[in-house]
Amino acid sequence: MFEPSSKKAMLSVLVVCFAIQTGLVYSDDVDIELSADAVEGRELFHDGSCQVCHQLWGQGGFLGPDLTNASSRIDETRLTSLLTVGSGQMPAYQYDAEQIRSMRSFLEEIDRPDVGRGQLRLGDPATSVTPQGAFDAVVREEVSPVALAGFEAFASGVCSACHFPFQTSVVGAPDLSMVSQRLDDAELHEVLTNGRPELGMPPPSPALSATQRDQLIEYFGWLNDHRADLMSDWELRQRERQVDWSRLDWWEFR
Ligand code: HEC
Ligand code: HEC
Repeated sequence: MFEPSSKKAMLSVLVVCFAIQTGLVYSDDVDIELSADAVEGRELFHDGSCQVCHQLWGQGGFLGPDLTNASSRIDETRLTSLLTVGSGQMPAYQYDAEQIRSMRSFLEEIDRPDVGRGQLRLGDPATSVTPQGAFDAVVREEVSPVALAGFEAFASGVCSACHFPFQTSVVGAPDLSMVSQRLDDAELHEVLTNGRPELGMPPPSPALSATQRDQLIEYFGWLNDHRADLMSDWELRQRERQVDWSRLDWWEFR
């Protein structure tokens, strides 16, 4: 289909692109320069497959918490105990003192809020400040007593596993901050009693009492009235949690 000469030209272009890309990768400016100790720690991190269960900057497995900022959460004693006897589903690694020190250096040196904060999907064990946690705190402080009861029903039921503030979740559960405009009280009672099983919303379990349904409806109304403020607060918090990717060397640090 192609002349031999145009094949050669195409091949040369590819070779040049490859060379440029390689050059860019290796000349990348890194902001995180690891000490020799921390480099040892990083090797242990790879060898121990920590990333199977843990994330760094939100990347990795999800069985354990994100470790990007773990060093500011946990002290020496806790780290030692984690790396020698394990904890829950975290296996014991039987690290010696030197290995623990290296891992400590690695975790300390990557903990750089100016570069980015971890995505604490499982929550921050120390302060439980996830965007969701912060949102919940604002609601608890400002909501009226009746709506608060509704909010607690929402938070303690599994509702917040599917419904997130101001976005449709992956399972298709909509944001509920404007539901009181979309549905009238009778329709809301209907959803809150029977769910919409064929559309992915199971009937609430345990079932909600009529009082709880009224309280939830009150909460949805409050949410709707305070939507603008809550939303700008939420967006601000999301922005604070962004990672500055341009300042991260692609998964390798010197
Ligand atoms: C099989 C999954 C798994 C592997 C592999 C694993 N961890 Fe964990 N890790 C966990 C779980 C689960 C927790 C939470 C334990 C708890 O809170 O009791 C945890 C907790 C931690 C914590 C405490 C985090 C915090 O914020 O409290 C640190 C630090 C940690 N792991 C480091 C490591 C390191 C370093 C490695 C590799 C050498 C590793 N983990 C390998 C599952 C794992
Ligand atoms: C398993 C995930 C899941 C859980 C848990 C869940 N929902 Fe839903 N919910 C959905 C989905 C999906 C829809 C959208 C159904 C549709 O397309 O009509 C929905 C719809 C709704 C609606 C109607 C929204 C609208 O605009 O029509 C309300 C109200 C609602 N849910 C409240 C709740 C409450 C309160 C709880 C907790 C008691 C709860 N949901 C728990 C998935 C869930």
